Amino acid sequence: MRIYAASDHAGFSLKKALVTEARRFGHEVTDLGPDDEQRVDYPDFAAAVGRAVAGDPGSRGLICCGTGIGVCIAANKVPGVRCAVVWDEATARLSREHNDANVLAIGGRLFSVNDAVRMLDVWLTTNFEGGRHAERVEKIRRLEDEARGG
Ligand code: RB5
Repeated sequence: MRIYAASDHAGFSLKKALVTEARRFGHEVTDLGPDDEQRVDYPDFAAAVGRAVAGDPGSRGLICCGTGIGVCIAANKVPGVRCAVVWDEATARLSREHNDANVLAIGGRLFSVNDAVRMLDVWLTTNFEGGRHAERVEKIRRLEDEARGG
């Protein structure tokens, strides 16, 4: 699977660790930055991942900031993105099964690398359940049409 990853300074070291793990799992990961721990603004990097995922159907995104919250809010402004901030394996699994999340947000200041790797692994290997959940996801998509004035 193609994965686009990014972070801010607070999520930098977790992102690096997760990119390494995702590659070890056999995925093709494009790291959209930053390349060091210098202070940056998380919306810029979350938007880069969101735009990359929206423009490459079937791909996924991975973004880390201090809490995962800021990058999640920003990424969800990009049409076509369903970003979920997760805090354990259950929320990682449910964000795929029920929400068909295509971008994963994790807080670099909140979790150990081991815990975050387990969340990433579950998230990458869990399928969307479809059915009634597909109807709800479609309603989310229609909100994007509405926001565009459609
Ligand atoms: C940076 O200090 C911090 O605000 C950011 O990483 C993130 O947690 C925002 O939601």
